[in-house]
Amino acid sequence: MAYRPLKQRLLCLGLCLLLTAAFLEGCGSSAKDKAEKVEKTKKEDPAEKARKEAVAKAKERPEVIDEDEGDLLILVNKQYGLSKNYVPGDLVQVKTCDTTFSSNTVKKMKSEAAEALEELFTAAREEDHEIVLRTGYRPYGYQEALYNSYVKSKGKDKADTYSARPGYSEHQTGLCCDVGIKGVDLNSFTNTRAAKWLEKNAWHYGYIVRYPQKKEDITGYIYESWHIRYVGKEPAAYMHKHEMTLEEYLDQVPEETDVIREDTDE
Ligand code: DAL
Ligand code: ZN
Repeated sequence: MAYRPLKQRLLCLGLCLLLTAAFLEGCGSSAKDKAEKVEKTKKEDPAEKARKEAVAKAKERPEVIDEDEGDLLILVNKQYGLSKNYVPGDLVQVKTCDTTFSSNTVKKMKSEAAEALEELFTAAREEDHEIVLRTGYRPYGYQEALYNSYVKSKGKDKADTYSARPGYSEHQTGLCCDVGIKGVDLNSFTNTRAAKWLEKNAWHYGYIVRYPQKKEDITGYIYESWHIRYVGKEPAAYMHKHEMTLEEYLDQVPEETDVIREDTDE
């Protein structure tokens, strides 16, 4: 084997070290570039951006809201309420209703939600599901009477698992509704093809099933296949895709919620 002088060998070693360092640096920076690119794409995704803005707004939310400010993502649950005088603006009569059930007072919704709901009903009808509105906007006084009647018949603890106290029902926002099929009670609606269709398709029309299964500890209410909430198309698509409740979307998951149990009413 040829003998190389020490100087030459040191030179070779130095060169090797330099090349290795350059290679490692290259790998490092390409991983860094990749991470930055992913982060940038994430930042630029309009759905992510919209959610971040909604989260920031939700963090500012007072415990009780007095006036309708047109926020489609307004959070109303056991933690956040509406004042007795809160009446949503822009209420219109929904056309596709179960007129045999309840009065016309509760067949109204905010116009954007009502329009989207009619689109949803039309799409459902095209697939042979005759879904109709049962109750939409419920004034404070209506909810008060409803809640009190449940407390009287079932007791407070049970009532609290499926009926909101007055001022804490999102029905008062005019952005949600209970839907169903004429002649079918709400609990039986859960087992219909129509309810499955709703769960799968409501998001196309800007609606979410507000109290889903397995999320009772977050929403504070048992599963309600019939209670849908208008949030707008983009947030609804996001929540559907990520299987999120409104609380999760807004990063407002409460630390504690009430008791959960089996059967329901409205
Ligand atoms: N059933 C829902 C929770 C309400 O009463 O608003
Ligand atoms: Zn409802």
